[in-house]
Amino acid sequence: MRRALLLVAVLATPAMADERYISIGADALPTAQAVAGQHFDMELVAHEGDVAVLTFDEDQLDELSDAMHEQHHRCGGFMVHDTLEDAFAEAVPEKLMEYTLDRPAVVKAVLPAIEAKRIEATIRELSAMKNRYYQSASGAAASVWLRDRWRSFTTRTDVTVELMDHGYEQSSVILTIPGTTRANEVIVIGGHLDSIAPGGFSANAPGADDDASGVSTLTEVARALLAKDFRPERTIKFIAYAAEEVGLRGSLSVVREFKKQKINVVGALQLDMTNYQGSNKDIWLIKDYTSATQNAFLVSLIETYTGATWGWDACGYACSDHASWHRAGIPASMPFEARFRDMNQSIHTAKDTLDRSNQNAEHAVKFARLAASYAIELGKGDVAQATISAATSCERSCDSWKWLAGLSSLAIAFALWFRTSRVA
Ligand code: BES
Ligand code: ZN
Repeated sequence: MRRALLLVAVLATPAMADERYISIGADALPTAQAVAGQHFDMELVAHEGDVAVLTFDEDQLDELSDAMHEQHHRCGGFMVHDTLEDAFAEAVPEKLMEYTLDRPAVVKAVLPAIEAKRIEATIRELSAMKNRYYQSASGAAASVWLRDRWRSFTTRTDVTVELMDHGYEQSSVILTIPGTTRANEVIVIGGHLDSIAPGGFSANAPGADDDASGVSTLTEVARALLAKDFRPERTIKFIAYAAEEVGLRGSLSVVREFKKQKINVVGALQLDMTNYQGSNKDIWLIKDYTSATQNAFLVSLIETYTGATWGWDACGYACSDHASWHRAGIPASMPFEARFRDMNQSIHTAKDTLDRSNQNAEHAVKFARLAASYAIELGKGDVAQATISAATSCERSCDSWKWLAGLSSLAIAFALWFRTSRVA
């Protein structure tokens, strides 16, 4: 879209204090117009082809979000921008990366530490909150809760867990494992912390699949890596984004803030909905708004390390936070739990509970294996040598067993000789 956009209204006019700019699929324009029409405060700034840019009253974004979820079964998909410049930002050409698989021993040392039961427990805790809406008190409490959970994973002082404030109740949560030799190259593994259902901040929105599943998956990956004292060459950041459900607002802010701080992100993996097995294959790689080369790397990781089956699919719109990274030229991927057409129909309702996933996290664990191998093979990480040898071979332990066995045989022989010599 962008440069060729036909400007139909006053570009010079800045958005009022409580206005935001949104970019939205042109097919959803009538929905946006209907929502705004009741209050007359939407202005069409530009429209060409399949994307429109509008000014929109911030107070009406909830209503728009509800209407999009109700009327567009593919969901609508809109991005919320603070400035017109952001709304028109040209999609930046993607960074070129090299992908290699050369840490099998480290991956094999970490994967057995990943436990489905722990993912399940975290989903239960997150989905027991009334909602995790970006403007509610429980949405804000969810950020603090997750920060404290992540902080409990290590006593290492180089690992940090912080909240990123966005000016509304809910914050994004960021855990950083600094890189050893290439710390200025950053890998992001994310999911969205917020949940939504009609009724906004007073609604019951458990969001067990969308997206407690993704956040719990990346929580378990961070825990397992830290339990093995993981030391990556590149910096790894785990991010639970605020406010995805209302126009990818949290991730767009994180991308903008990182750009301001000149943080060089070289890869992003989004885990949004990992625990509902709706199709005949396990992992569906979303082809649109993602990186073809990084996706090919994910295919090798899936095939080499996870034992999962996989296929290609597409959302058809900027359906989650990977799109915020993709738009900024950062290789992004989104492995998804089912084919789009077989998606969990309970999302964005009070029925999005663990019942839809047979009360377990057996599906999500495949995504945890994938995300852990992504962190290790792209982060080029290492763990303590002892952990590696224990997992990949029995060299050391076998040697000590052989030694013990030898000693025992000697002892038995000596006892036998002693007995016989006494008898004689
Ligand atoms: N998890 C969904 C996206 C999704 C739903 C992907 C079903 C694949 C199948 C996400 O939380 C979401 O609801 N996204 C919004 C778009 C966003 C830009 C507001 C949506 O799809 O309406
Ligand atoms: Zn959603």
